[in-house]
Amino acid sequence: MAFTIEQVKALVREFPDFPSQGILFRDIFPIFRHPEAIECLVNHFVDHIRALNQQVDVVVGLDARGFLFGPLIAIKLGVPFAPVRKRGKLPGQVVSVTYMKEYGPDVFEMQADAIESGKSVVIVDDLLATGGSCKAAEDLVALMKGNVVLNAFVINLVGLEGHKQLKAPVYALIEC
Ligand code: PRP
Ligand code: HPA
Repeated sequence: MAFTIEQVKALVREFPDFPSQGILFRDIFPIFRHPEAIECLVNHFVDHIRALNQQVDVVVGLDARGFLFGPLIAIKLGVPFAPVRKRGKLPGQVVSVTYMKEYGPDVFEMQADAIESGKSVVIVDDLLATGGSCKAAEDLVALMKGNVVLNAFVINLVGLEGHKQLKAPVYALIEC
């Protein structure tokens, strides 16, 4: 079955009080139960990125759900994929940035040679909440002298105003 982007959006589910009381958790995994829905999602992002008419050299995905579709977008664009990982997971020389999560500071890292100076980057993740995670990713790219042209998400929790933390423009498939 071929999926429309509206059908893909409808696959996202909400779980009240997960992982803790008062959190309404948005779950994108149902999309990944349908190969045609994955393809529709990826094509949607690729079309949006191409329509920017800007050079894109690298797709950067955030640990962990940005890894689900970031590489698929990179393949279609014909560019490398580079992961942002939580502390201590990447071998070799890394660049690190500390950022704030709900229960205190956390650390994001990238391999220091993942992005060459001057390269244009699209950052992808499942969800933009407070923006702390994506801001840390923007800072990591800046440490390598890369240039973020877009931050792309499946979901943007607009009420949390995460976009205000970010330097580059934000695109989200679902705004809620
Ligand atoms: C979630 C989500 C984003 C981030 C958004 O990941 O996948 O990466 O939080 O929140 P923010 O905009 O407030 O920073 P999480 O840190 O829970 O890690 P996980 O992917 O390992 O579950
Ligand atoms: N889904 C996934 N990750 C999240 C969410 C959510 O609803 N809220 C904060 N991080």
